[in-house]
Amino acid sequence: MGNTLKHIGVLTSGGDAPGMNAAIRAVVRTCAYHNLDVTGFYEGYQGVIEGNTVKLDTQSVSNIVNRGGTMLRSARCQEFRTPEGRQKAYNNLKELGIDGLVVIGGDGSFTGASLLSTEFEIPVIGIPGTIDNDIYGTDFTIGFDTALNTVVDAVDRVRDTASSHNRLFFIECMGRDSGFIALNAGIAAGASGILIPEESTDLNDLVEKLKKSRESNKTSNIVLVAEGEKRGDTFQLAEETQKHLPNYDIRVSVLGHLQRGGNPSCADRVLATRLGVASVEQLMAGNSSIMVGIHNGSVCTVSIHDAISRKPGLDRNLMHIAEIVSL
Ligand code: F6P
Repeated sequence: MGNTLKHIGVLTSGGDAPGMNAAIRAVVRTCAYHNLDVTGFYEGYQGVIEGNTVKLDTQSVSNIVNRGGTMLRSARCQEFRTPEGRQKAYNNLKELGIDGLVVIGGDGSFTGASLLSTEFEIPVIGIPGTIDNDIYGTDFTIGFDTALNTVVDAVDRVRDTASSHNRLFFIECMGRDSGFIALNAGIAAGASGILIPEESTDLNDLVEKLKKSRESNKTSNIVLVAEGEKRGDTFQLAEETQKHLPNYDIRVSVLGHLQRGGNPSCADRVLATRLGVASVEQLMAGNSSIMVGIHNGSVCTVSIHDAISRKPGLDRNLMHIAEIVSL
């Protein structure tokens, strides 16, 4: 391992995700273990540009492994998209004596990380933190498991009222341009239909399915809609469906940001801790411009370039499974 590394910076950027705190803690504790200094930047790249920092030690990350959100707060920083913004950021990193940066976030955050490391040759390691699970090169992103459990719990609750009133609910969940949350939560919560951006669903097929469901005396129906679904508007979709199924009592529920909150699940805490440790070890080994991830149960690495330029594959077999069990 190289031994020139002395001072690591860490930040969280983009949409917060449960488990980010566990990742920060693991980064800080790994630095302490190896006698490295560590500085946290508040509000992602904005904090790097403004020099809004906090010195972190083992004590400062006590009692956060269980907390949702991020103690370093997060932001989507417009200024960092400009060369001037990145120059300011680099100047601050140099002034602080930072010789390696850990960026916890999604693909937007990694695009910034990639630019910074190529323009200024500062070593950067990415940790995938987003509820969307939409990052190439890792089977799971930090926050996905917790968000899934939150969505399933919310759908179960809607199911109680849907059954009591014999209703059909369209439930919209997050995921940006990807359907990982909708597909997995839909299977787990027994949805009659799952609409995701990766698959085009014919409205007539959905209507036929819902008609059959009524004939089989189902007391409730849930259709899970990913926010990125091609048709765009869940309320409009519900209206269209209502025209075809006038006897149905239809409601829409948009889950929104509650999906991002809450204490991280055990799986997310363990994943975040493994990736946090790995990120520092990668910097110590002299590596840069890579993301640490998890594949088949083991920690892996992928180039940041691939992480941002390639799309993760959604398991099509899960769609088939959803179709079978939603009869
Ligand atoms: O990327 C995480 C995410 O929650 C997406 O699922 C969603 O589309 C987006 O962030 C919402 O962003 P914001 O919090 O800025 O409204």
